[in-house]
Amino acid sequence: IPVETFDLVIFGGTGDLARRKILPGLFKRFCDGQMPVGSRIIAAARSELDLSGFQDFVVEAVEDALGTPDADQISGFVDTLDYVTIDALGEEGWADLAAKLPAFDKVRAFYFSVGPSLFEALAERLHKHGLVDTETRIVVEKPFGRDQESAKALNATLRRHFDESQIYRIDHYLGKETVQNLMAVRFGNMLFEPLWNSQYIDHIQISVAEDVGVGGRGAYYDKSGAMRDMVQNHLMQLLCLTAMEPPSFFEPDAVRDEKLKVIRALTPVEPHHIVRGQYTDSSDEVTYREDVGDPRSRTESYIALKCHVSNWRWAGTPFYLRTGKRLKARDSEINVVFKQTPHSIFGPEAGEHHNELRIQLQPDEGINLRVTIKEPGPGGMRLMDVPLDMSFAEALGEDADTPDAYERLIMDVIRGNQTLFMRDDEVEAAWAWTDPIIQGWEARHDVPKPYESFSNGPTDADLLIERDGRNWREIGR
Ligand code: BG6
Repeated sequence: IPVETFDLVIFGGTGDLARRKILPGLFKRFCDGQMPVGSRIIAAARSELDLSGFQDFVVEAVEDALGTPDADQISGFVDTLDYVTIDALGEEGWADLAAKLPAFDKVRAFYFSVGPSLFEALAERLHKHGLVDTETRIVVEKPFGRDQESAKALNATLRRHFDESQIYRIDHYLGKETVQNLMAVRFGNMLFEPLWNSQYIDHIQISVAEDVGVGGRGAYYDKSGAMRDMVQNHLMQLLCLTAMEPPSFFEPDAVRDEKLKVIRALTPVEPHHIVRGQYTDSSDEVTYREDVGDPRSRTESYIALKCHVSNWRWAGTPFYLRTGKRLKARDSEINVVFKQTPHSIFGPEAGEHHNELRIQLQPDEGINLRVTIKEPGPGGMRLMDVPLDMSFAEALGEDADTPDAYERLIMDVIRGNQTLFMRDDEVEAAWAWTDPIIQGWEARHDVPKPYESFSNGPTDADLLIERDGRNWREIGR
């Protein structure tokens, strides 16, 4: 879908997210011809850089993320860049920025790639300097609050200055190709949807395992933990897309209305259905507490929980969620585990079998359906499970270049399509479900269970699912 000419202003344009994701992503879109002539990327940041300093920064960012670029392409991209040193809390730089944006003759978007404490100041100054009209868009990043109250306050702040239709709250998991494929698979095929309910599905697992630790983000992470950092947003979005009713159209509010209904149907989680963990040492690796510099930290770097979506479709089908850092592998997957057949005509010796749909997000993207077949050979009717595998890279050919989540989402901002962005009520509802869980830990002074780095997580997490007669799928299979 073509895009219109645009001006994208990135506040925090020399920050880590801009360097790792936003700028390389924009370069890829430029190479694909999605930056019409006249489009500009203007970074606004505190750094005392001049334009050529910023251009060098961008070339390096592109090289780090994507390898050496084509000389013509990178020089063309660099020509679209501009830079202004700005003080979000003061007056410096605002007149310069205004001078660079004299007319509302293109799509205009401001990316707030800065901490939420600056949102209000930025919004106020944008208005004061006449930089926004009713079509202007703003993009904001997580963390979107740290509980329902702060999320509401943040929403109220943004809504004082912008209409909801102008606000694009990014959850980059929604930009991942397989996550969108989840909707294509569910709602583009006749095969799955009739079976997509508690009559046929035994349970669903959503796992997002990372092998990295908290690294240099300790100060932020230790105040958040896995629940706030991953479950309230990314895993919640995966849960919503897996559990929601078919929207009437693939349109922003139709999709978001259905997601919201799922969040509101989540029942409170019982404390004994949650396991928190914290990584400890494994030979030469530092522990979580060393990583964050607090020997007494009680923040979780791992969480597993069982929850229920209480509606007609899902009553009786539990959802098991887990995510953690410093696990065995980077490996994320949604597993839809179907029930066994009601009766086995092959007798007990055929063993127990079930179908399973695996939607793989990371490290490779793909969809895999496990089906039961006859074990080859003359040994009678013995059954085995085999995968019907669809790796996207294989199916779509070597050239299939899966776009990064940010590439896709930024272009959706320019196109004015909010389908893959979170609405205010969705974010608040997700916090409303999360808050009592966190408050419970605080009230009980809960201490996370230690787990060894590069393991599967705490053993209690295995018990959480095994006591229901089920098993986690193996991480890093
Ligand atoms: C971020 C979290 O939102 O998502 C990080 O703050 C996490 O802690 C990251 O590592 C995971 O994203 P991805 O795309 O690498 O799975």
